[in-house]
Amino acid sequence: MRCYLHAFLLCMIFTFFSLLYVCNQLASTLEEGDDWSLREQGTLDRSAHDSGHPLRKRPGLAGLRDREGLDRCKSGSVSYWNPYWRLPADVCGVNCLLESPLRVKSGSAVTEHSDGRSHLAVVACGPRLEETLTMLKSAVLLSKKPLHFYIFAEDELHDSFRNALDAWPRTVQTKFNFTIYPITFPKENAKEWKKLFKPCASQRLFLPLILKEVDSLLYVDTDILFLRPVEDIWALLSQFNSSQLAAMAPEHEEPRIGWYNRFARHPYYGKTGINSGVMLMNMTRLREKSFKNDMTTVALQWKEILMPLLQKYKLNITWGDQDLLNIIFHHNPESLYVFPCQWNYRPDHCIYGSNCQQAEHEGVFILHGNRGVYHDNKQPAFRAVYEAIQKHPFGESMETSLLFPLEASLQTTTNSYCGRASHLFTKKLKQSIASVQQDTTLRR
Ligand SMILES: *[C@@H]1O[C@H](CO)[C@@H](O)[C@H](O)[C@H]1NC(C)=O
Ligand SMILES: *[C@@H]1O[C@H](CO)[C@@H](O)[C@H](O)[C@H]1NC(C)=O
Ligand SMILES: *[C@@H]1O[C@H](CO)[C@@H](O)[C@H](O)[C@H]1NC(C)=O
Ligand SMILES: *[C@@H]1O[C@H](CO)[C@@H](O)[C@H](O)[C@H]1NC(C)=O
Repeated sequence: MRCYLHAFLLCMIFTFFSLLYVCNQLASTLEEGDDWSLREQGTLDRSAHDSGHPLRKRPGLAGLRDREGLDRCKSGSVSYWNPYWRLPADVCGVNCLLESPLRVKSGSAVTEHSDGRSHLAVVACGPRLEETLTMLKSAVLLSKKPLHFYIFAEDELHDSFRNALDAWPRTVQTKFNFTIYPITFPKENAKEWKKLFKPCASQRLFLPLILKEVDSLLYVDTDILFLRPVEDIWALLSQFNSSQLAAMAPEHEEPRIGWYNRFARHPYYGKTGINSGVMLMNMTRLREKSFKNDMTTVALQWKEILMPLLQKYKLNITWGDQDLLNIIFHHNPESLYVFPCQWNYRPDHCIYGSNCQQAEHEGVFILHGNRGVYHDNKQPAFRAVYEAIQKHPFGESMETSLLFPLEASLQTTTNSYCGRASHLFTKKLKQSIASVQQDTTLRR
């Protein structure tokens, strides 16, 4: 009798584990798109603003998530790699039996385009909080169309971002939604990616793979300031011809002071290379395209090309992921739309005399204070613009509390070349401000 009981128990145990296994397999096939398929689980950022996220619109998910303790998923974490890129320990696991069937399978993979919104992404690490907020502020101040911010930040910064943006006035908050994401890297090479260039900067290369449901994105560095509405650069997306999928400005206008043409030990785009600080991407196309390259005879997809490229060139690259982008577009020049320097205006454009012709005519559209010029005294004209935008109190007239003080402080910078070109900094800004103010008076 004891014998039967034992056999029965063993059977039960065996059945239980078989069932578990079958369920598990079932769950993973259910969600398996391709190996790289990225599971978004709905942002756990519950800020009132993130409701614009596509997942919010799916009924039921939010409720289930709240009920069933799925909250152990790291707050704010939404995406991860599998199996190539393993999960961080505190993000929901691959074999979360319960969760897998609930996971959203995106039938109509890409949503959210041509909805009139501009989608703006930034990656912020280390001491870049204030600078990033100032960039976002310049975007909401001058844009008339709604915005969605995708903020990738180190975990320590998440609360500060959320609190700061929540503290902006209601009237400003109606102009944007935001989602905060953790920095995620391929596990195997996380260290290598992170130390490449500034901390976290190479995150931008992975945006098309992380934000799988987003059609297009404007990526900007934290040290960018918009001097005209975001929707104006966004509109360039519709000018892409059928082979173009990304847009950037040249790294230099003047080959004599160009970096790539003088020093690079790898291929680069065009005459002087491209700068990735302001980058428009049609990510739908990026994800579909097969890129010619100098590693294999077959063309590689975006998700396949990055690591081999890093392996091949890691000893030869200086500017990290920007160099990788240069290599990719060197081999695929038909895929790049090059916009003029006034969309990514840097100290290089004025440091030895003004060399950005388009800015001479139309003014600067987007200011890029690279090499820390907003925070030291090397380029006071750049710093003046940063401080004017940072100090402007929301709600007050931009003319009297931003433009006029800025013009006054630019007057004091004329002992530098960039200071002498600084009327170009306010040329477009003046029009943008007038246009926003006119808009608000009309609506009153
Ligand atoms: C933010 O999301 C809400 C809810 O989806 C939506 O009604 C609103 O229009 C969005 N705002 C912007 C500026 O996109
Ligand atoms: C991006 O490209 C896809 C595929 O060609 C297209 O359907 C979509 O409209 C483009 N997005 C934008 C914003 O132009
Ligand atoms: C790296 O630079 C060295 C020295 O210029 C060059 O010989 C080598 O071919 C480069 N490596 C690659 C992969 O281009
Ligand atoms: C798109 O424009 C680029 C740059 O001018 C060009 O190299 C490419 O051939 C064009 N593609 C098509 C399909 O016309």
